[in-house]
Amino acid sequence: MVDVEAFVERAVAEVDEAVGDGRAVIALSGGVDSGVAAALAHEAIGERLTPVYVDTGLMRQGETEQVAETFSFMESLRVVDARDRFVDALAGVTDPEEKRRVVGEQFIREFEREARDADADYLVQGTIYPDRIESEGNIKSHHNVGGLPERVDFEAIVEPMRERYKDEVREVARHLGLAEVTAERMPFPGPGLAVRIVGEVTREKLAVARHACAVVEEETAEHDPWQAFAAVLGRATGVKGDNRVHGWVVAVRSVESRDGMTARAQNLPWETLQRIQSRITGESDDVARVVYDVTHKPPATIEYE
Ligand code: XMP
Repeated sequence: MVDVEAFVERAVAEVDEAVGDGRAVIALSGGVDSGVAAALAHEAIGERLTPVYVDTGLMRQGETEQVAETFSFMESLRVVDARDRFVDALAGVTDPEEKRRVVGEQFIREFEREARDADADYLVQGTIYPDRIESEGNIKSHHNVGGLPERVDFEAIVEPMRERYKDEVREVARHLGLAEVTAERMPFPGPGLAVRIVGEVTREKLAVARHACAVVEEETAEHDPWQAFAAVLGRATGVKGDNRVHGWVVAVRSVESRDGMTARAQNLPWETLQRIQSRITGESDDVARVVYDVTHKPPATIEYE
């Protein structure tokens, strides 16, 4: 982006003009897009913005605590503990699109309640350009673009970053002085770990995915991937101690990309892959195998579902 300062000025003015004397809400996901949108809107309308963070139980390790801390400068921040409600709603759901729908639907319910409590007339969203393209092309139902507006009776939706790419949003985040964990945070899908679990989402698989994702993020950090994570695929046989076990198969994915629309599997050193493998299987009793995903996008997508 040529001029970050000019963009920030324009975006703040846009929110200010759209919301006027009214009140607005924004759903904070923990990611950089909604974080930047919230910071811009807060700059424009201060405490008349209510940022809502829903802890879906599908988040990464430490994510909720991190969000609460990063955005503690906004006094009206609301952190909603909806972990049990999401996992219960996902029980028995195996179809990927159905999973997205269930997560989206539950999210709307949680958010609707908070928006009503906040008495908000406007919705601010951190939608960026690639979200719109993928949603319009219907590649996948991105729930942060699809659901909210139809169901909640807002006067208007304000999307100050709708023309921006991810790397531009990061630039804005740094410019605004948002915590580095947020500014440099790798993209994380709206449905969270639910799309990193093939098949039914259970508390057990969530724990495996959460731990494995944390290991992969830590161990790949020095190689600066665009996105790196782990997914739980299914079960396979392994040996732990003297016993044969039927443990989880965890896939490791690390990709380079500019905007997520295409991606290349990263050529990670064998030592890094082995360290990841040994930590994931060593630190979790339930994982029997770790495999590395070498597929680019296309033909694969970045996430597993
Ligand atoms: P895929 O898996 O489609 O992902 O290659 C492309 C980029 O989008 C993220 N992603 C999502 N983001 N809601 C989101 O907000 C979603 O439903 C969703 N699905 C995928 C993914 O992490 C990658 O960065």
